[in-house]
Amino acid sequence: MKIILEAPFMVEAIRTLTNLYRLGWDERNGGNLSYLLYDEDIKDYLDTDKVIRTIPMSFDASEIVGKVFLVTGTGKYFKNVQYDPERNLGIVRIAEDGKTCELLWGYSDGGKFTSELPAHLMSHMVRLKADPEHRVVMHTHPTNTIAMSLIHPASEREFTRSLWKMQTESIVVFPEGVAVLPWMVCGTNEIGEHTAKKLENTRLCVWTTHGIYGTGKDLDEAFGLIETVEKAAELYMLTRGAERVNEIKDDELRDLAAVFGLNYRTDYLD
Ligand code: 13P
Ligand code: ZN
Repeated sequence: MKIILEAPFMVEAIRTLTNLYRLGWDERNGGNLSYLLYDEDIKDYLDTDKVIRTIPMSFDASEIVGKVFLVTGTGKYFKNVQYDPERNLGIVRIAEDGKTCELLWGYSDGGKFTSELPAHLMSHMVRLKADPEHRVVMHTHPTNTIAMSLIHPASEREFTRSLWKMQTESIVVFPEGVAVLPWMVCGTNEIGEHTAKKLENTRLCVWTTHGIYGTGKDLDEAFGLIETVEKAAELYMLTRGAERVNEIKDDELRDLAAVFGLNYRTDYLD
C-alpha cells in the first residue's frame, strides 16, 4: 500500500482546508467538508476490507450505500488539519443498512464525522441526481457573506440580484443563483433536509447568519463558487450606504448571459 497522506485527493483536501482557515472563514471548529472518493482514488492507499469501527448516523442514506467519503471531524479545527490529518479527518463508507458509517481511516482520537453530516450526505444525494460527476460539499463561514445575510432581505431572488450586480463575474460563475435558508438550528436532520431541497436547483446555499454551502464536481469548483459569492458580498458590504452609480444593470446582465451562453435564472431579472 502507498502512503495515504500522499494520495492526491488527501493532499488537495488538506491544502484546501488550510487555505480556508487562512482566509479567516473557519474560526475554531467552524466549517466542514465531505468529498466523495472513487475506487481509483483509494485502491492503492487503503485496504477497504478493514473497518476500524462503525459509527451510527441519525438518518437514512440508503441511496448512497457503499459510497466512500473523506469527511472532516466534528469539533476539529481546520487550522490543525495539516499537522495531524489522521486525527482531524476520516474516511467513511456508508454501510449496507444506510444508517451506519464504516470508518476506514482517521478520527484517530476516537472522534467522529462532522455534526453537519446530515446536510452533507443529503446534499450529496440531491446533487448526484443533478450532476453525476458531483463530488464535493463544502461548508464554511465566510465573513462578508454572513455580514450580508445579516442586513439583506433573505429573498433568494433579491439576494442573488445583489450579488450579480456587484461584479461582472458573479452571474458567469453562478448563473443558477444562490439559495438562502432562513436561520435554523444547525447540525440537525431538519437543516439537512432543507439544505438538500434548496440544492436541487443550485450549487450554493447561504445559511443566514451562519455561513454557506458550496458544492461541485471537485474541490476547486465548490471553493470557487463560495469564493466568488464571498467577493461579491465583500463588495456589497464595502459599498453599503453609498450610492452605487455603476451597479450592473439588468440589461447588462442579459448581455453577459448572451455572450457567455449562460443557462441563468431569467426570472431573477426585471
Ligand atoms: P463541526 O465541528 O461538527 O463540523 O461543526 C462546525 C460547524 O460549522 C457547524 O455548522
Ligand atoms: Zn457552520
